[in-house]
Amino acid sequence: MAKDFSTLEDSNRSANPSIHEVSDPARRQWLQGSAVLATLGLLGPLAGCAFGGAGGGAGRSGAKLGFQGVAVSRADAVTLPADYVAQVLAPWGEPVGVPGQMPGWQPDASNSAADQALQMGMHHDGLAYYALDGSRRGLLVMNHEYTDDGLLHVGGMTPWTAEKVAKSQAAHGVSVIEVTMTANGWQMVRPSRYARRFTASSPFSVSGPCAGHRLFKTAADPEGRRVLGTLNNCASSATPWGTYLSGEENWANYFIPADQPTADERRWGIRKNTWYRWAEHDARFDTVRNPNEPHRFGWVVEIDPMDPTSTPIKRTALGRAAHEGAWVAVTRDQRAVVYSGEDAAFEYIYKFVSRDRIQAAGNGKTAAQANAALLDHGTLFVARFDADGKGRWLPLVHGQGPLTVANGFADPGEVLIKSRQASDLLGATKMDRPEWLAIDPVSRWVYCTLTNNSARGTPNRPGVDAANPRGGNTMGQIIRWQETSDFDGSDFVWNHLLLAGDPANERAEAKGNIQGDPFSCPDTVAFDPQGHLWIGTDVGTRSLNSGEFARLGNNQLLACDVTTGEVRRFLVGPVGCELTGASWTPDGRTLFVNVQHPGENPGDRSDPAVPKQFSAWPDGTAGSRPRSATLAIRRTDGGVIGS
Ligand code: FEO
Ligand code: CA
Ligand code: CA
Repeated sequence: MAKDFSTLEDSNRSANPSIHEVSDPARRQWLQGSAVLATLGLLGPLAGCAFGGAGGGAGRSGAKLGFQGVAVSRADAVTLPADYVAQVLAPWGEPVGVPGQMPGWQPDASNSAADQALQMGMHHDGLAYYALDGSRRGLLVMNHEYTDDGLLHVGGMTPWTAEKVAKSQAAHGVSVIEVTMTANGWQMVRPSRYARRFTASSPFSVSGPCAGHRLFKTAADPEGRRVLGTLNNCASSATPWGTYLSGEENWANYFIPADQPTADERRWGIRKNTWYRWAEHDARFDTVRNPNEPHRFGWVVEIDPMDPTSTPIKRTALGRAAHEGAWVAVTRDQRAVVYSGEDAAFEYIYKFVSRDRIQAAGNGKTAAQANAALLDHGTLFVARFDADGKGRWLPLVHGQGPLTVANGFADPGEVLIKSRQASDLLGATKMDRPEWLAIDPVSRWVYCTLTNNSARGTPNRPGVDAANPRGGNTMGQIIRWQETSDFDGSDFVWNHLLLAGDPANERAEAKGNIQGDPFSCPDTVAFDPQGHLWIGTDVGTRSLNSGEFARLGNNQLLACDVTTGEVRRFLVGPVGCELTGASWTPDGRTLFVNVQHPGENPGDRSDPAVPKQFSAWPDGTAGSRPRSATLAIRRTDGGVIGS
């Protein structure tokens, strides 16, 4: 989600003196001026990175970038290299294809809440392809992160009604759709027995240490084991056992507290001045009446898309956070390591190490069924990045170190529910808004986008450190690490793939060190089957029009050869969108990517002062409502994308 920087959650007031700040006081200062940056080796191309060697992320042999890069653009259109074509699939409002229940899209947004619950949600985000027939037919599972309520309803947000709240809730969540390649390219298969919607009202079960926990119990769910809905689902990934992991990201924005929020609510960013107004018609989101309801969000949810009868599960062993998403690496002894970060200013990066090994399908069970409890048992860790290029994973284990009853953690479940407070006490590193992660299974380096953090180094906020080296960081960076032993190890080495920015900028902190096409605010990252790292950008619409971003055009999708560090621009999106989620068919010949929030405008469009739209994509007719949608991208010669 792109939002105005000034409205983003920034709630980490912990003293938590990061170890590297103590050990490297020079980095406490704002880095001002190129001389300082040059001294620290941050302005040279890919400083500190020995590409192809032991010090950097080794790439795959032969994985050269093979496409003609495109120029920046401000067009309300998708721009691609000349020998590529994009189809628009499954825009907001299309029926997903539940048999017998396919309400058609009404361009005036007059669909009811009940219709919306059977249609593609708003603001497509993370997605993944699941093969039913190789690269010709499969499922696309995707998140619908948030709603633009000014656009969602006839008449916008005025008057604000219970029906509009219900429709907003129905436009959230996750969609499962079936797609197939035809003579006319990719098409949705409707009806499909796999087609499903999960919304902010669908039933989810709870597993792991917090199932049945006292802080999970509500009047509507006295057992604390059944939650209605998933919120603000941002990034996603496919697991090796065939399920879908989705992160509940900025869930705090949906809850309205008392005039004086509790200390716990303040630490989690629950505040009065938020843009969602569900609580006015749904008491579940009023924390005075339902103080435990917020504890039931902020989890990684697991969905088995191949079983249309399955109930999705909130996996509490992975900890509670403003989860961007979660990504699985596999240890040499076949255990799952789940990396995740939380996209909020000065928050943390985590990993979960499973106790048990991944099981193969067999004995009448699918792989998903054979691993149904895999993510319920294990240990959660939080990352500390030290100034010497090394790092350590700090265990969030009840009773160890400061995570005691005396410090407010009654039991293991409370450590997981209060993972931020636990990480504060452990001295984890406060990061510049961790977004997506991508794991290179060949080199075993893990990449994470740190999208930006303009508050870094401002008065009374944390200063720079080695991992987050720029004050007033509007541009973001991509950090990466490699475990010194296996993925489950406690130590790692790290460096930056790149610092994003535009070399033409005057402010040293906004120049970056990209080798190739400049960009800012990296968000999505994903490896394609050839080992290219694809990067989607998310610059907020208001920022896009300001000075430091002015030459970078609309948000875009780029590819990086991590062996050489070269970055090349592949796609520029329509006005006001971000490019998010990237998933390939197994043959690498189709790339699915989402165009999220074209015409982004966080205001109430029923307010005459707020422009109705900035984009007419994809329908293109005058006055048509902009709609998030999926692109299916192919090479005109049918070749492998990006090669
Ligand atoms: Fe939903 Fe952090 O982007
Ligand atoms: Ca973002
Ligand atoms: Ca994102």
